[in-house]
Amino acid sequence: MDRIKNSKILITGGAGFIGSNLVSRLIEDNEIVVVDDLSMGKIENLPQSNNLHFFEHSITDSSFMKRLLSDYQFDYIVLLAAVASVADTIERPLATHEVNQNANIQIIDYVRTEKLQVQKVLFASSAAVYGNIKSLPKKEDSRVDPLSPYAIDKYATERFMIDYGKLYGIPTVCTRFFNVYGPKQNPQSPYSGVLSLITDAIKYSKPFTLYGNGNQTRDFVYVDDVTAALELLLVNDRAMHDVYNVATGKETSLNTVIGKMENIFGKNLIKVNKDARIGDIDKSFADVSKLKELGYENEYDISDGLTKYIDFINRVRK
Ligand code: NAD
Ligand code: UD1
Repeated sequence: MDRIKNSKILITGGAGFIGSNLVSRLIEDNEIVVVDDLSMGKIENLPQSNNLHFFEHSITDSSFMKRLLSDYQFDYIVLLAAVASVADTIERPLATHEVNQNANIQIIDYVRTEKLQVQKVLFASSAAVYGNIKSLPKKEDSRVDPLSPYAIDKYATERFMIDYGKLYGIPTVCTRFFNVYGPKQNPQSPYSGVLSLITDAIKYSKPFTLYGNGNQTRDFVYVDDVTAALELLLVNDRAMHDVYNVATGKETSLNTVIGKMENIFGKNLIKVNKDARIGDIDKSFADVSKLKELGYENEYDISDGLTKYIDFINRVRK
């Protein structure tokens, strides 16, 4: 795969889980600017490097974002900043809409009005846009059924990115990540990604709340596979004005994942059962053939990924 080199790259949400892993992947050969309000991200996630410029700021501050875009004239813009929790957006639909949709539209609109010469703008959308559709695996041209403010904002912003791209000649692409896991996922909020919460609960012998019966499925994808897909979609000219699933193509239930993690840790999880969450998705896994047509291959299955993740947790977190 072609690698990105000698480029100026903006990564919003770059101190977060996926963002900081992407920064680590690209930092050596590029100049990277991160904008993150640290609501979920952490400064410690970021590597120390002269190639990195960090701004603790909200993407909702449009005058700040405009100045930044003009000053740097980025080659690539990666839009990862979001309130990433479905449950949080159900609690705070309007506040999260400002971040998850409006701020991103402001950014692409500024690229339009100022005719910024960017090589690619990538927007991170989500498998949540498919909701509970019956047909599985979920394919990019499957029906969408967004069930939460989060999913509605992700779908609408995808459409803005793709159609702004076509209407105004801006190179854009969108991803629909399925359930990403791995190092630097923040387990500190009750709304955090489930694998980070389970890891934390097993490691520190804390109770874990299992919503529903645990038979719900997800397509869990290891973060290194996700950052590889992001770089591929940024550099590949065929990935244009379109949306790509980023996942493994395999379905795993929460109960299965819990069993595997208990085995790797050699310790049981303390479970507290509660009713399924409102707006929660029952079954989810991806058709990844579109991404594979661009030459993409996953490196990690769920067992390899969990082993690598838990090894990192045992080494790093005290
Ligand atoms: P994350 O919460 O770790 O990262 C998001 C980052 O955005 C955080 O660092 C947070 O502090 C920052 N942020 C939030 N609001 C901001 C604001 N107003 N201004 C600036 N920064 C702000 O989540 P993540 O898992 O790394 O997700 C990255 C992107 O991928 C998000 O857009 C998310 O919706 C999407 N996504 C993630 C998953 C997943 O499984 N992790 C799945 C599908 C889509
Ligand atoms: C996740 C992402 C979302 C992304 C979507 C794509 C996070 C926080 N959310 O949403 O950004 O768009 O994947 O597929 O990364 N659960 C429990 N107990 C808990 C927490 C969760 O049982 O303490 C259950 C949930 O009810 C759900 C499953 O675990 O059934 C996964 O939940 P979660 O990790 O929040 O992910 P999604 O809602 O799938």
